[in-house]
Amino acid sequence: MFKSLFPVIFMLVSSLSFANEVNIYTSRHYDSDDQLYEDFRKETGIKINVISGNGNALLERLKSEGKNSPADIFFTVDAGNLWKIQKEGYFQSISSSKALSIVPINLRGPNNEWIAIAKRARVIFYNPKTVANEELADLSYEDLANKEWNDRVVIRSSNNIYNQSLVASLISAHGIKKTEEWAKGFVSNLARKPQGNDRSQIMAVANGIADLAIANSYYYGYMLSGKAGNNQVEAANKVKMFFPNQSNRGVHINISGLGVLKNATNIDNANRFIEFLLSREMQSSMVNNSFEYPVLADVSPHPHIASSGLDFVEDKMQVSEYGKFNSEAIKLMDRAGWK
Ligand SMILES: [Fe+2]
Repeated sequence: MFKSLFPVIFMLVSSLSFANEVNIYTSRHYDSDDQLYEDFRKETGIKINVISGNGNALLERLKSEGKNSPADIFFTVDAGNLWKIQKEGYFQSISSSKALSIVPINLRGPNNEWIAIAKRARVIFYNPKTVANEELADLSYEDLANKEWNDRVVIRSSNNIYNQSLVASLISAHGIKKTEEWAKGFVSNLARKPQGNDRSQIMAVANGIADLAIANSYYYGYMLSGKAGNNQVEAANKVKMFFPNQSNRGVHINISGLGVLKNATNIDNANRFIEFLLSREMQSSMVNNSFEYPVLADVSPHPHIASSGLDFVEDKMQVSEYGKFNSEAIKLMDRAGWK
């Protein structure tokens, strides 16, 4: 009798522990995220199973798994990427009222399909030896199409989602025709054919290839931290970070964010994880590792980022606009000759 009950009890116990988990698909590539998952398990007893990989590969995986996908949460960067998952119908609306009360409405999907966990600004990096203060005064993205910047600007290629989202924001603000004119002028001002990642653009400014670059804010903190090697510390020390559009729309803001998947089975655990990430303590530890900006206003970013200023105007545009205009942005950049 006792013997025959053993497998039943074993199955019960293992199915209980099976329920106390949450499955996350993530394209974020921070080692520190592992610590975050472990902290969550210690605090809540909920185990996080992580599948990490390239965003597109994970989306393909979701598609092929269909209804049988074990994924509860999809965690990725850039509202343009979150939009793609939402458009395929893979997200459900986030039901944590706590999370929705914390994250500003412009940093969410149209029906709360996804929300921001951290923010990043797409800023200008300049060489203070070759760019005069008068040139920087009131400088906007729009100004970078003007003749005075001819042969002085670098940026990565148009196949990158960060650039697609920036151009989508310009389309949302100015319409397609004006943005296309801008893109043509901007491309004609490039000091070299688009190449490399965001950090390569900052390096190009440090090495005198260009006077200014557009890149994401957190790379500056990452380079200054020494995690990418001494030559990148030296390069970052030669450039300064500048927030454009301070007298009008504000600097372009994008997000790291996540959503709960439609076929999720661990929704309560998923909500607990989202609320955990939005706690003061976790916001602080996340931005100290990723060099992003926190979603919580009273948490400070890493000193390497804070030193460039905290009192700047952010574009309050709905970040979902970047997804809405993504395909128009890609076509427009192609027409403008943005490689
Ligand atoms: Fe990045």
